[in-house]
Amino acid sequence: MDEWRVKGKPVSASASEMAEVVLPAQTNVLGKLLGGHVMHMVDIVAAMAASRHANSYMVTASVDYIDFRNPVNLGEIVMLKAQVNRVFTTSLEVGVEVFSENLLTGERKQTRKSTTTRTNQNVVILSLSDKDGRRTSTQVSA
Ligand SMILES: CC(C)(COP(=O)(O)OP(=O)(O)OC[C@H]1O[C@@H](n2cnc3c(N)ncnc32)[C@H](O)[C@@H]1OP(=O)(O)O)[C@@H](O)C(=O)NCCC(=O)NCCS
Repeated sequence: MDEWRVKGKPVSASASEMAEVVLPAQTNVLGKLLGGHVMHMVDIVAAMAASRHANSYMVTASVDYIDFRNPVNLGEIVMLKAQVNRVFTTSLEVGVEVFSENLLTGERKQTRKSTTTRTNQNVVILSLSDKDGRRTSTQVSA
């Protein structure tokens, strides 16, 4: 193995989660969580999983398109789960699932609909980068 190749690790080592209560500042006039806010959170949790896997700065190179299946209502909890699906050479693919949970009933729904053929999750491709945003020659490992 090349010395500069990052040591491999299991998916569970970098799987990441985020959750927050939906407040009025993040909702539209109908009291539903803004799609743009969901996309922001998808980007953040994907970067978290990718960087934890690669132990490196990562930038988002590409995002799969997202269908919003169920709205997340004001006062509900929005939860995101990210995990590395596949590792390439200097990039990797992260899948993100988004759920909502009603605080009062405990009912949980999946927020978005799958569109990719490779996985049933939203997919974010992230690429290695140094702290100044430049590409690095380090590889990521599965
Ligand atoms: C993503 C970026 C680093 C790619 O740079 P580049 O000079 O094109 O690098 P390369 O062509 O060598 O690609 C690097 C890796 O990224 C992958 N990649 C680049 N663009 C991609 C895309 N649109 N979709 C999927 N993978 C992509 C390549 O396949 C390659 O992967 P590999 O080494 O695992 O085979 C560069 O385009 C960039 O900096 N974009 C802006 C990123 C950004 O600002 N994001 C938002 C803030 S985080």
